[in-house]
Amino acid sequence: MQLGIPRERRDGERRVAGTPDTARQLTGLGFEVLVEAGAGEAAGHPDRDYEQAGARIVPDLDLADLDLLAHVRPLEPGTARLLKPGAITVGFASPSSELATVRALADAGVTSFALELVPRISRAQSMDALSSQALVAGYRCVLEAAIRLPRFFPLYMTAAGTVPPARVLVLGAGVAGLQAIGTAKRLGARVFANDIRPASADEVASLGGTFIRLDLETAEAAGGYARQLSSDAGTRQRQLLAPHVADADVLITTAAVPGRRAPLLVTLDMVQGMRPGSVVVDLAAESGGNVEGVVAGQDTAVATADGSGHVQLVGLKDPASAMAADSSRLYAKNVANLVALLVRDGALAPDFGDEVVAGACLTSGGAVRHQPTADLLGTARQETGNGQEGER
Ligand code: NAI
Repeated sequence: MQLGIPRERRDGERRVAGTPDTARQLTGLGFEVLVEAGAGEAAGHPDRDYEQAGARIVPDLDLADLDLLAHVRPLEPGTARLLKPGAITVGFASPSSELATVRALADAGVTSFALELVPRISRAQSMDALSSQALVAGYRCVLEAAIRLPRFFPLYMTAAGTVPPARVLVLGAGVAGLQAIGTAKRLGARVFANDIRPASADEVASLGGTFIRLDLETAEAAGGYARQLSSDAGTRQRQLLAPHVADADVLITTAAVPGRRAPLLVTLDMVQGMRPGSVVVDLAAESGGNVEGVVAGQDTAVATADGSGHVQLVGLKDPASAMAADSSRLYAKNVANLVALLVRDGALAPDFGDEVVAGACLTSGGAVRHQPTADLLGTARQETGNGQEGER
């Protein structure tokens, strides 16, 4: 069985889907591990480390020969078309936005597993790449804010006077938000947070943060996820948050609703109401943004309402990729743990009776197995006038 680890093709991506450590683990499962030359370099793993772990370095992967391709970013449709029927892929797939690739994977008869679809049950935690990468992102966004803030995070009492601690407000207390709260707390800031899931209040408190209770409907859906607020409740949430935003030195937003555009939590007026020198880091910038006017991958200086200075609005992009060594360490483990679940008696034999295997499966046997993505593809085909056959 040949398992390939490619150099990631997307611009700026520094992570790698396998490390020397997981190459050793995968070799133990019976794979011949092929690593594209230089694949792990940006994550701190030179080719020779993979060779020492029992992998083979190749100038370029021969996709048609692979039984399994592990990857970080969603594949390109052209890559999917080069895989052999029955080959397996494991990695992020962004199914709702990368429909052309999903279609190409299904057409090529590839069995693809999307890490976003791994069910969030206890047994699958070691394969939960959304959580492992959100942890990195939550940590990183606080450092990005700290480096831009013209102030300390901690309280300092010095001979030259007392420096008060920074006030950090975190909106969205999921995996990334909780990590941001913990990191800001460790740096000594006073931390405040809000989320629409009531269960998050205790989690915020356990990390030393102060939960801001708003007089709003709660919005928890099945599985502990958020659901979208009604438009009235969204407006009211922004009104209630405005004074807390104005009071913050650092605002970090991480709010998301699965399968939807990120909710707008902070308007430009609210940003303009902050003190000069304040910093806003929007972790949801790539999925539409929690903050009005944010641009993914860019810093924008927003003039304060009184014209006395600027607020720095940071559209954070690829925060996990920026910390490629540890994000790859965790991601590669997630991948290897899922791959281990697909191997029985030294052969690739996915058991679709297993809820983790079935849940994570995006395409197999020429069909799209994830119904919401199949529905999206059906809609897309109808819109382009090509709707003939069903998805599954
Ligand atoms: P996410 O990335 O989908 O969303 C981030 C946060 O934004 C969530 O806490 C959500 O409630 C919040 N949010 C959405 N709309 C908001 C709004 N209008 N205002 C304020 N906050 C808003 O969520 P993530 O981090 O993937 O996890 C969400 C939950 O999923 C966790 O807290 C946990 O309950 C569950 N989970 C379970 C795991 C398991 O293995 N059992 C693993 C990871 C998460």
